[in-house]
Amino acid sequence: MKKDAKVTPWEVSGKVDYNKVIKEFGVSSIDEKSIKRIENIAGESHFMLRRGIFFAHRDLKWILDEYEKGNKFFLYTGRAPSGKIHLGHLLPWIFTKWLQDKFDVELWFQFPDEEKFLFKENLDFEKIAEYLEQNMLDVIALGFNPKKTHFIIDTKHAGLMYKEACKVAKKINFSMVRASFGMNEQTNIGSIFYTAMQAVPSFLPSVIAKKEIPCLIPHAIDQDPHFRITRDIMPRIGHYKPASIQCLFLPPLTGADGKMSSSEEMAIFTTDNEKEVERKIKKYAFSGGQATIEEHRKKGGNPEIDICFQYLKMLFEPDDKKLAEIEKKYRNGEMLTGELKDITIKKINAFLKEHQKKRELAKKRIREFVYKGLI
Ligand code: TRP
Repeated sequence: MKKDAKVTPWEVSGKVDYNKVIKEFGVSSIDEKSIKRIENIAGESHFMLRRGIFFAHRDLKWILDEYEKGNKFFLYTGRAPSGKIHLGHLLPWIFTKWLQDKFDVELWFQFPDEEKFLFKENLDFEKIAEYLEQNMLDVIALGFNPKKTHFIIDTKHAGLMYKEACKVAKKINFSMVRASFGMNEQTNIGSIFYTAMQAVPSFLPSVIAKKEIPCLIPHAIDQDPHFRITRDIMPRIGHYKPASIQCLFLPPLTGADGKMSSSEEMAIFTTDNEKEVERKIKKYAFSGGQATIEEHRKKGGNPEIDICFQYLKMLFEPDDKKLAEIEKKYRNGEMLTGELKDITIKKINAFLKEHQKKRELAKKRIREFVYKGLI
């Protein structure tokens, strides 16, 4: 990693070198063979795998071996309510939905509604409850199967989770969290305990089913330290280590280092209207184009640093041929920044129009998704 780059569950900053992340975190890159195996089972390929947007994993081969033997896994991912949902949040969830459909598996979706209360200065539980409800609408709107999707809300399901969290917490000592998260003597003890809560859904379905079920966690790479600790502990309390699959961060609109974050010039929110999307892209989206049209026609643009191109590649243009066509035209100067921006605005707005409709319908459906079973 570049000296000043940081990837932790609470902070992503600086220019992230993903090859170094792979080495430093100890995850493995996803090889062609695993991609082929997933495609064989799914009956189609997914652009996020083909394009290396999901780029790393732990124990993915084991998950596929077990699946091929007829032993299905469950999926686990989550969201700590702390603000509105933006496009960056949706990226791993869209892939998770595809995995659920193609592998026909259960998904446990955690909403740790105490996490950001513990880690942030000015966020109270009333505000978090509002975000929680809003965030749940976005997850439901993505189309997860209600029969196979279970929302776990930490403060609501505390009775179910706490005993299991204690089993994990008993095996974590302060020096482990200090080493993994950079905590110190001033860190509040709630934050120090928190990893135990995030570990729980990786084995809770096994506890409920009274048999071990493999778990696969799709997540953005910054969450890995939680699951590194989880994986260390699981065999010691009689559970499988969860497998995981990691994605890149969606870059902020401005093209700044780090990931899309919830400030207006950095993010497009799922609730933004057409005009807001257009305004933000036109005003903020960092362009890989040249300063003048003449220069652009002569030298062409640079899609690698162009935010619109990156959004198309990572989220909005799953068709490889169409993407390659845009890339070619932009690179050779045939396509101007304004044209690329227009294409991107249209794509995002088409997506958001549908999403917002489904989000509206989701308001009546929250109860279908919240886990109701008791141990
Ligand atoms: N810590 C995550 C966040 O800040 C939320 C989360 C809980 C999560 N469990 C997870 C994310 C599992 C990915 C996978 O939003």
